[in-house]
Amino acid sequence: MTSGGDAPGMNAAIRAVTRIALLNGLRVVGVRHGYSGLVNGDFSELRAFSVSNIIQRGGTILKTARSEEFRTPEGRAKAATEMRRIGLDALVLIGGDGTFEGGSVFYEEHGFPVVGVPSTIDNDLVGTDWTIGYDTAVNTAIYNIDKIRDTADALERTFYIEVMGRSSGFIALDVGLSCGAEYIAIPEIETRIDVLLELFRRQRATKRSNIIVVAENEESSGALDLAQRVKRENGIDYRVTILGHIQRGGSPTARDRILASKLGAAAVQSLLDGKTCVMVGEVAGQICFTDMRTTWETSKPIDYTLVELAGLLAM
Ligand code: F6P
Repeated sequence: MTSGGDAPGMNAAIRAVTRIALLNGLRVVGVRHGYSGLVNGDFSELRAFSVSNIIQRGGTILKTARSEEFRTPEGRAKAATEMRRIGLDALVLIGGDGTFEGGSVFYEEHGFPVVGVPSTIDNDLVGTDWTIGYDTAVNTAIYNIDKIRDTADALERTFYIEVMGRSSGFIALDVGLSCGAEYIAIPEIETRIDVLLELFRRQRATKRSNIIVVAENEESSGALDLAQRVKRENGIDYRVTILGHIQRGGSPTARDRILASKLGAAAVQSLLDGKTCVMVGEVAGQICFTDMRTTWETSKPIDYTLVELAGLLAM
């Protein structure tokens, strides 16, 4: 099952899970439309050919959703009944923190073995260095910001560019560093208007175009708000671009396809080995397992040395 926001590489994970399970003599059933499909019995048998020609495709062939019904005990009881009805023994959950929160509660209430495959463009899950889809999203953002840099430079403008990440700054930090952004605003660190103003003041003589990368932030208002606040202080004109959902689409990069293949295979193996309610991840190149509850109860820290480096390089 894929659930929550889609991420490039989910299809590669579905393919790996399906084929490794079939090779082990298991029956594989795809749950369509995430937890809504589990609650409503929206199942489809997966065979080796069902997952042909999908490794390179973004989105998810199983579709995905965010289900309100599964958040209720009644919804989860319906899902358990549906699983028993067609004889499902275990669930492989491909998604992010919301998916794993649902998965751990479902396991605690109904006892079906569950294993998680981290897949979200946000990279905000402990227990893995990288989540499936993150590398593609970062590269999509970089590709687009490089184009904006051309026009920013030609017209000597300041652009505020908002990237995704929900409440985490992983995308913004890596994208900002990679694009040579003059400032990176992330939720983990207070945005300092005074630092931005000082930056503009110092640069005025030498430089007239700037790229400010701003992480979307559930707690604050994003790129437009920041641009307006700075303009009120120094009068510098700006343009704002919100990259939005283009970051979630497209063909997965090699890194995402490889990660998805490794983690999908490891998820099936972990169920065969009797592990349950864990997320499979990769840390320093090694497959590892993290209690599923920990993945959504603990926040993953950003790399503060990268923040410092980006600041030093933005002269
Ligand atoms: O979690 C993935 C993500 O793309 C976040 O970066 C973003 O905040 C959110 O999903 C957007 O969700 P939706 O597609 O429901 O607007």
